[in-house]
Amino acid sequence: MIQFILNNRLIQTHKAASTTLLDFIRYDENLRGTKIGCREGDCGACTVLIGSLKDGKTEYMSATSCLTPLPNVYGKHVVTVEGLNLPDKLNQVQQAMVDCSGTQCGFCTPGFVNSMNGYALTCSEPTLENAISSIDGNICRCTGYKTIERAAAKVTELLIHKDKNQPLSWLVDNNFIPAYFLNIVDQLSAIKIEYKTDGQIPIGGGTDLYVQKHDELHEMDLNYLFDKSHLNGICFDGNSCTIKSAVTVSDLITNQTLLATIPNWYNYLKLISSTPIRNIGTIAGNLANGSPIGDFTIILLAMKAAITLSNKANETRQVLLKDFYLGYKNLDKKADEIIAEITFELPTNGSQFNFEKVCKRQNLDIASVNTACSIATTGNTITDANFSMGGVGPIPKYLSKTNAFLINKTLDVNTILQAEQILQTELAPISDARGTEAYKRLLARQLFFAHFITLFPETIKMKDLI
Ligand SMILES: Cc1cc2nc3c(=O)[nH]c(=O)nc-3n(C[C@H](O)[C@H](O)[C@H](O)COP(=O)(O)OP(=O)(O)OC[C@H]3O[C@@H](n4cnc5c(N)ncnc54)[C@H](O)[C@@H]3O)c2cc1C
Ligand code: FES
Ligand code: FES
Repeated sequence: MIQFILNNRLIQTHKAASTTLLDFIRYDENLRGTKIGCREGDCGACTVLIGSLKDGKTEYMSATSCLTPLPNVYGKHVVTVEGLNLPDKLNQVQQAMVDCSGTQCGFCTPGFVNSMNGYALTCSEPTLENAISSIDGNICRCTGYKTIERAAAKVTELLIHKDKNQPLSWLVDNNFIPAYFLNIVDQLSAIKIEYKTDGQIPIGGGTDLYVQKHDELHEMDLNYLFDKSHLNGICFDGNSCTIKSAVTVSDLITNQTLLATIPNWYNYLKLISSTPIRNIGTIAGNLANGSPIGDFTIILLAMKAAITLSNKANETRQVLLKDFYLGYKNLDKKADEIIAEITFELPTNGSQFNFEKVCKRQNLDIASVNTACSIATTGNTITDANFSMGGVGPIPKYLSKTNAFLINKTLDVNTILQAEQILQTELAPISDARGTEAYKRLLARQLFFAHFITLFPETIKMKDLI
């Protein structure tokens, strides 16, 4: 039996574990405010809020219910748009949407309202930029967004006065959320987490598996990893960082040590998917789906990451990430193994990191070509080079030959131009929906140059390379 709180009611269900939260909400609970648009995480019409109990408090996040399996909300608080209604009036986000004409046909509106209420619940710094970021996973076909942005600005003006010490009470008193939210901690504390599924196929956030294999999932024997405590957490030992496999992109984008150690970390990770997908997609899922353009895969390849695989007998082995990909979606992983954790070295003095991604639109898109590099220099000599690239072949590519060529070379335009010739011999892009082979080769060249122009602006100038 799976238990969770849906709005203000305890749910105890024996539904198949692989049932999506969206189907449960709409068809079992008849809460039709949560809409079905794409079922692929793209439109945001199905967005709900999920609150987890942490240190005696509830922490909320937005999530696409179409990609969330029921076990991933075990012992949590799920909030649909109906659960945000106040007894006698619209809540502040709903009212702002009305006042600013942020809704026309209304199909997308519950998703926007949930995302913006998620922003109200989580934001410590209310700014228009953060408000607009919170709705980066919601698509509207009618309004043209400006009216919704005005609603977001209105909500932000109210949130500037939010009490940081008593946020939940303040949000109740100021008509953002109904009063029952104040009792949720007690209700969640009363739920005993007894549910275990240890099937064969690992599933993290489900953001890849539910898109690729939606119809087959009901037949699959799944191993739900998202909430396993031994697979969650980020730790540091000197210069080494270990990410447990169920860590999400949102966990990484808010990690203070990574933000302090890797310049631009926040901006790099903001290029990955959207807020609700970053909230639930795990790092292991990004590595294990074998996509040649997984953003985090490309980032970790350049960081010389090693992954630890474990099996049910608790035997472990380590594999360098660059050796993990044997062919298209073919991994050096046995059927009974899961990725347990990922370890990499943080950039130190003398070494620098950069990530570049080009896709057809800025938000919520998979790359045409993405690339990362970590490069170390002493004086004007390159002492270490680790470039990786995605979208240019059947596997996410660690550019071994290019990297080997660069080591001990002088950092100058001539070296970079020669390295680019070698780089092209390592690529095997195909023409597909994300661009022709020629376009991808051109992108590879420009983005390779972009690393140097970005990291060494004093030495390497665009006009000399192009
Ligand atoms: C709308 C949308 C936008 C997206 N945008 C991007 C993007 O911009 N960049 C990007 O890189 N990706 C993107 N993705 C892809 C996806 O969200 C990410 O790759 C995510 O990190 C997958 O993690 P998950 O936990 O959801 O994977 P899941 O769907 O849970 O699993 C994916 C695969 O990994 C396996 N797996 C999961 N955990 C483990 C484990 N611990 N050990 C071994 N195998 C495991 C599963 O069996 C499955 O084969 C997007 C997806 C969607 C739906
Ligand atoms: S239905 Fe479109 S994101 Fe879920
Ligand atoms: S109001 Fe119609 S899709 Fe947004």
